[in-house]
This record gives sequence, C-alpha cells and structure tokens, in this order.
Amino acid sequence: MHAVGIVAAAGSGLRLGADMPKALVPLAGRPLVRWAVDTLIAGGVAQVVVTVPRGQRDAFAAALPPDVLIVDGGRTRTASVRAGLAAVSSSADAVLVHDAARPLTPPDVVSRVLAALAGGARAVVPVLPVVDTTVAVGPDGMITGALPREQIRRVQTPQGFHRATLVEAYRRLPARAELTDDAAVVHTAGVRVATVAGDERAAKVTVAHDLALAELIARTTGERASPQAGGSSRLRGTATEERNESGVEP
Ligand code: C5P
Repeated sequence: MHAVGIVAAAGSGLRLGADMPKALVPLAGRPLVRWAVDTLIAGGVAQVVVTVPRGQRDAFAAALPPDVLIVDGGRTRTASVRAGLAAVSSSADAVLVHDAARPLTPPDVVSRVLAALAGGARAVVPVLPVVDTTVAVGPDGMITGALPREQIRRVQTPQGFHRATLVEAYRRLPARAELTDDAAVVHTAGVRVATVAGDERAAKVTVAHDLALAELIARTTGERASPQAGGSSRLRGTATEERNESGVEP
C-alpha cells in the first residue's frame, strides 16, 4: 500500500506562548514538526506533505528532510488539511493525517493505522479510553447528566483514510466548515470510522505544561536530536498499548 502522510503544522501556537510557530518549537533538540515527520516515515509512510503557516516555508524547509513537500496551510486546521490533500499524488492508496503537535507519537501507532487500512477499513483513528467520570455540563456550569465513559474515547492522530474516500469527503464539505479532526469530515459524509489503540505518548502539546512534560518523557526514554528516520526504534511498544482497545471494522 502506498501511503502518504499530511502533517498539519500551520497552527500559530499562541497558547504555547512561543515566539515562533508552534511546530518549529524544539523538543529534545528537534522541532515538533520534525518529530511528526520522522514518526510517519518510521511507521511506514512513503512520502510526507507538511502544511505550514504563510510566510514560513523557508524556516520549515530548514527543519525538514529535502524530500518533504511543503505547502501553505489555511486559517483553520480543516483548511490546512484541505490544502495538504490537494498536494497528495492520486497514485497514493492511503492518506494519514497527523498533527505536528503530537511529537512523541510512537511509530507503532502509525503501523496499526496502516494495518487497519490494509485490512479494508476506509477510515481509522487511534483512540484511548477515558478513565475519569464523564458528565455533560450546561452553559451555567451545572451538571445536566452523566455520560457513560465506557462509550467515550479520546481521539488522536495519525488518522488514516482510503485516499479517494477522504478526497470525496472534503469535496462535499462546505468551504468554510471547521471541524477539529478528519474523522469528523468523513463521518459527516457517512463513512464508518474504525478504531485502533492509541497511545498516551501521542498526547497533544498545546500549552507550556504539555511541552515540559514531553521534554521529560523524551529525556526519560533516551530520545535525542536528529535520529535516522526510518530505522528508529524509538518509543516502541509498551504495556500502555496492550491495555488499550483495538477493534477494526470494515
Ligand atoms: O489548534 P489545534 O491544537 O487543534 O491544532 C492541531 C494541529 O493542527 C496542530 O499541529 C496545528 O499546527 C495544526 N493547524 C494547522 N492549521 C491551522 C491550525 C492548526 O495546520 N490553521
């Protein structure tokens, strides 16, 4: 299967408080976007497209391998992925969309997503269970009811799609629509979305606390700057994966 990755990296990172685009912020000596690209390659993706903030192409090119395709992103994540998708070759069978903001995602998550696609799924997302009690809250902050946590999952990236399915779902999506992930785009188009086990290390870096935590994890697991993409065995399987759910539906 020929899989192409799209890394959504066009966010500003205002909440992180950095003086540069979030995806260029270094983690253990490597920009977040580089971690994301290396993970996709190590997990089996053949080629990567990165969507970047306007005016930042050169800065991103300096941080990425030369064969990565760099395209301008949009005002929203949905617009950025739409732009990335337009740059994906129609010879690709599958597309994996990944957030640059999830730098420590283990390549095993990528492999699981690819395996589900190879098994016939048209759309697949990595998910984690919710351990806290979950409730619905009204605009006044008061609890309006319980949400059964057994039925709830936290959704991560990379999210994998049969390429033509994702292209068609984006084609149908109104131009200004703004969704928080790509599973929502295909789900809106009526496509069934399968799940595989995610990983706690695929957590999103949003605020400074998340970056500090990621630094700690990268240091504890012996990660360092500029590993060889492709042959890296970084962050491979742990017990976390074993206890997570894994269910693939065609
Ligand atoms: O803002 P949020 O945390 O949902 O961003 C998730 C990912 O989407 C980040 O990696 C960010 O760089 C990317 N993004 C983008 N274009 C935007 C906004 C966010 O590619 N306009």
